[in-house]
Amino acid sequence: MVTKLCLLVPLTSGEAVRQILLDQELLDRAFTPRRIKGELALPVHEGLLPNMIDVQHRLELMEVEPAPPAMDPHSRMYNAIASLSGVNEALLQSIPKKWERLDDLILFPKDAFQQLGWESIVHQHQDFFSIVAQALSAKRIGRQHPIANDQMRSSQVELLYGKSGWVEVKDNGLVYGFDATKVMYSSGNVTERHRMTTLQAEGDIVIDAYAGIGYYTMQLLVHAKVDHVHACEINPNSIHALEWSAKKNHVQSRLTVHPGDNQVTLRELKGTADRVLLGYLPSSEASWEPAIQSLKETGGTLHIHMNVEEERIDAWCEETMHKCLQFANNADRQWEVVSHHLEKVKWYAPRIRHVVLDVSFSSINSAS
Ligand SMILES: C[S@@+](CC[C@H](N)C(=O)[O-])C[C@H]1O[C@@H](n2cnc3c(N)ncnc32)[C@H](O)[C@@H]1O
Repeated sequence: MVTKLCLLVPLTSGEAVRQILLDQELLDRAFTPRRIKGELALPVHEGLLPNMIDVQHRLELMEVEPAPPAMDPHSRMYNAIASLSGVNEALLQSIPKKWERLDDLILFPKDAFQQLGWESIVHQHQDFFSIVAQALSAKRIGRQHPIANDQMRSSQVELLYGKSGWVEVKDNGLVYGFDATKVMYSSGNVTERHRMTTLQAEGDIVIDAYAGIGYYTMQLLVHAKVDHVHACEINPNSIHALEWSAKKNHVQSRLTVHPGDNQVTLRELKGTADRVLLGYLPSSEASWEPAIQSLKETGGTLHIHMNVEEERIDAWCEETMHKCLQFANNADRQWEVVSHHLEKVKWYAPRIRHVVLDVSFSSINSAS
């Protein structure tokens, strides 16, 4: 503890006065404000003018702690909330320790600030989430609810502060734009996203059968230098994002979006592709057959995503290759099938892995 000149104000005015002192550059940020019963002691520099603060206050020498060298975001949020009146110890302990950041939007988990007592604090301090945003150097705050269990994997973000859910996220030298309240962003598929950039796919015609906001499409067009991507997507919000990102990353002339169900759109692309991405969980099996038919007559590669129990991965690979060969035979394709790679992307749930199997087909005649 260090003895320091402090401005003592009622806790109820603590945050407002802290703001004024910050604006006037009078708050001594080298020290941490201290709660003493119903008051907040704010460490200050000399120079406070008599009329600057219009609430009851007094200056006193007080014992305060030096501030940690560079405060981490959680501590900044903790301190900002701790200076608000009505916040008790139990609530302070429940302040979220994790969040996701998309652009200047902070997404807290679904139970954040939901414990008994927060509702009245938020009601009492109308600027509560603006204070949280400022502490985290953000401009918007949302609460993430589980991704909808619908075909479109819709996002269910509740915006708590800020007006729009549109975010622009940079990744690997390119930018994705999307409305986070309407479509999901899968930060967990980053390894697969970046693996797509390393494929020997220059000049390829690619179908992204579940394109979403273009996670893989953009990487393939910009970094893997594929010739063209046909992006199948059913969700109009994702299509809007996809088109925005294509324009922003200057690849729109090499992208064709096929709106609607890929059960229909894949069949319109018969015999055209060198490569098909099947990025849908828990299983993309519904589109394996039309995907195989959309490969060129000489063959090509499927990137098959699936959630598989860890101990069944080897058996699943075998079964998948077998089924793929069957679908090829049904389509009168004299192909052989090999797999050169299985990617373990992430744990989806305990014992369940998100995997991607690369399955390549080549004509028996051309191979011999
Ligand atoms: C979770 S995203 C996957 C995005 C990305 N490929 C990945 O793995 O992170 C799946 C996308 O597939 C779309 N989708 C689902 N079923 C579809 C279908 N039958 N036809 C076209 N798009 C579909 C959803 O709207 C969603 O945008």
